[in-house]
Amino acid sequence: MQKITVKASGGYDVLIGSGLLADCGKYIKEVTKAEKLALITDDNVDGFHGEKVAKALKNEGFEVCRFVFPHGEQSKTTDTLVKIWNFLCENNITRSDCLVALGGGVTGDMTGFAAATYLRGMDFVQLPTTLLAQVDSSVGGKTGVDLRGGKNLVGAFKQPKLVLCDIDALDTLSEEFFVDGMGEVIKHGMIKSAKLFEQLEKYNLKSLRENKEVLEDIISQNIAIKRDVVQADEFDRGERMLLNFGHTLGHSIEQYYNYTGITHGQAVAAGMKMITQVAESHGIAEAGTLERLKKCLDLYGLNVTVEPTMDQLGEACLNDKKRFGDTINIVICCDVGASMLKKIPVEAFLAMLSEQG
Ligand code: GLY
Repeated sequence: MQKITVKASGGYDVLIGSGLLADCGKYIKEVTKAEKLALITDDNVDGFHGEKVAKALKNEGFEVCRFVFPHGEQSKTTDTLVKIWNFLCENNITRSDCLVALGGGVTGDMTGFAAATYLRGMDFVQLPTTLLAQVDSSVGGKTGVDLRGGKNLVGAFKQPKLVLCDIDALDTLSEEFFVDGMGEVIKHGMIKSAKLFEQLEKYNLKSLRENKEVLEDIISQNIAIKRDVVQADEFDRGERMLLNFGHTLGHSIEQYYNYTGITHGQAVAAGMKMITQVAESHGIAEAGTLERLKKCLDLYGLNVTVEPTMDQLGEACLNDKKRFGDTINIVICCDVGASMLKKIPVEAFLAMLSEQG
């Protein structure tokens, strides 16, 4: 088992290893004086892990109530949030109790937002069960829900008290969801760690999933990268925007497809390729960076071709949260493992995309 400590508001540990869900009560007991825990999960994850986790919590003497909502991004709404708030109220959850998010990014983000807002704030812990949630969304305290106008438009920064990444939970993850998480893993290598990227180049989807020791090491490296970025810029004003590599174009690609028929990971992968193509053609990125990125994406089933051209995606990029008035912050990798934030006028950004066709 590995332990990574995040020194953001409050400070907390992230534990990575096998069998953590079955032992979660013991670890949660160390970080809370709560008597009651509200376990929040979706119907899919509940089927795989709900009973085991509830039992582990009750074994440590916690009283447990469980809220289960339908799985999927379509549940990440203010409607579900209101249902969670009412559930907490009906179950007499107090400020000294604690919420437990069991599941992927939707569950973690929504439970974190409920914890940030219910009774003006209470504790929560994260039990991420997807690769994406383990390497990205469960660490760093971004919480929120979607609006009809876009994803994560309402939210708060709220750090958890503890994150338990049980790598055994990934055994039941479908290939599609595992690949989805690999988009963020490759992104972390591109922006911060040539060593991680080189390690990823030695494996592929099958061999990585089969090798739990390597998988645990890779997940831990990802969390350490995320920890460093969050500690440098918890509230997303500078350094943390590097995590947006591939996401500005990626979000526009998801929007082009109306969020169906393409995963977030595939869209981000395509976004990373496009922006690296722009960077290479302007001599900002080392020649060959795009080729290495493509080959690595290929190993993990992420080197997909998308329909829209860069020119077509430009306007949609302007809705990005990283746009500030007439300028937009773009993340560029000058080489594998080396990234920078470039603040450029919107017009210049649109022209750069147009010239690529
Ligand atoms: N997932 C991006 C961030 O946490 O800032």
